[in-house]
Amino acid sequence: MRICVVGSGGREHALALALRRAGDEVVVAPGNAGIPGSVATDPVELDADLVVIGPEQPLVEGLADRLRAKGRLVFGPGADGARLEGSKRWMKELLAGAGVPTARHAAFAELAPAVEFLRSLDGPWVVKTDGLAAGKGVLVTDDVEEAVDDVGAKLSGAAFGAAGRTVVIEEGLTGSELSVLAVCDGARAVALAPAQDHKRVGDGDTGPNTGGMGAFSPVPAAPPDVVDVVLDTAVLPTLAALSARGIDYRGVLYAGVMLTTEGPKILEFNVRFGDPEAQAVLPRLDSDLASLLAGAAAGRLTDEPAFSDDAAVTVVCATDGYPVSPRTGDRIVGLDAAGAMEGVEVCCAGVAADAGGALVTAGGRVLDVTALGPTLDEARRRAYRAVSHL
Ligand code: AMP
Ligand code: GLY
Repeated sequence: MRICVVGSGGREHALALALRRAGDEVVVAPGNAGIPGSVATDPVELDADLVVIGPEQPLVEGLADRLRAKGRLVFGPGADGARLEGSKRWMKELLAGAGVPTARHAAFAELAPAVEFLRSLDGPWVVKTDGLAAGKGVLVTDDVEEAVDDVGAKLSGAAFGAAGRTVVIEEGLTGSELSVLAVCDGARAVALAPAQDHKRVGDGDTGPNTGGMGAFSPVPAAPPDVVDVVLDTAVLPTLAALSARGIDYRGVLYAGVMLTTEGPKILEFNVRFGDPEAQAVLPRLDSDLASLLAGAAAGRLTDEPAFSDDAAVTVVCATDGYPVSPRTGDRIVGLDAAGAMEGVEVCCAGVAADAGGALVTAGGRVLDVTALGPTLDEARRRAYRAVSHL
């Protein structure tokens, strides 16, 4: 199959590697200087048997609709389904209507009622931008005054522009987190192996939330039946609720789950593969990714994905200053040595080529280093050994 992967980050590099492993011909549009097969062509102009759209932004902007209108087979929801990620308010309302377990919430565009609601909740307090904010629009805090200030900064537009002019305020849930990525064909869904990502920038789960600093799969702390429970209580009811609104959702429904003492609750739905979860999960896939995604894209999901018993750990290498003020333009060295290690895969995210063609840092999250191993400990040791080459 000729496949076009749309996007320019580590997730798209991981998708390209997984698809090529099965012998498929892959281009990545636009990709980046570190992803072989990157092309600058508009995906709408490319001839491909299957288009897999990586990031949320083009999905929210209706790229899948434009491609389908040209007769392409597309893995990724249309703009209607992508609203699940494009508007947290809409997503929470849909979940409430479908009876999906999630945190108590309310949405506000005005400061005074927002602050009143915030002060009526017990901590921790959670303030989210309604719109897209590159994974950085969520504050979780034990300090109600910090939450009040954050509501002000978001609603004023100062912090996140238009994305923050409506905020969603939630009760803080506690527990361990899990990412369940379900491949959906509009009516049916199958889950990939679960993963957990590290959202905060610092070691020991400290500092501000980021797009994700690392991930691992499998997740030993998760109860064995949790994936089935998430499919039954969250993913399938959500697909049914979308379908009832006339939305034919073909793509990944990524459930961000908190494992609470009352059972799994949905923190968020994303409409795409997780980044960096995809980098940790896809190297464990033993079955044919192209066939799985093409089946879902065609509305005929029949494949059951199979995963190896290996554990995978992904470590994200970010620039100095990420996420507040990432430094760019630094030379990247050691990619070949790291990538040559057994069971190691290095995906390029925020990279560019300088005038001489050398790879330099161009974004906050630069490289994703994934290692497989018989245990999570061994996979982590290998991943950090690979990182030491970079
Ligand atoms: P979101 O973009 O909605 O997934 O939020 C990003 C991260 O913020 C999640 O992965 C959680 O770590 C945290 N978070 C979001 N909502 C809540 C909540 N209601 N309670 C506790 N933590 C949350
Ligand atoms: N790893 C978090 C995300 O992809 O949103």
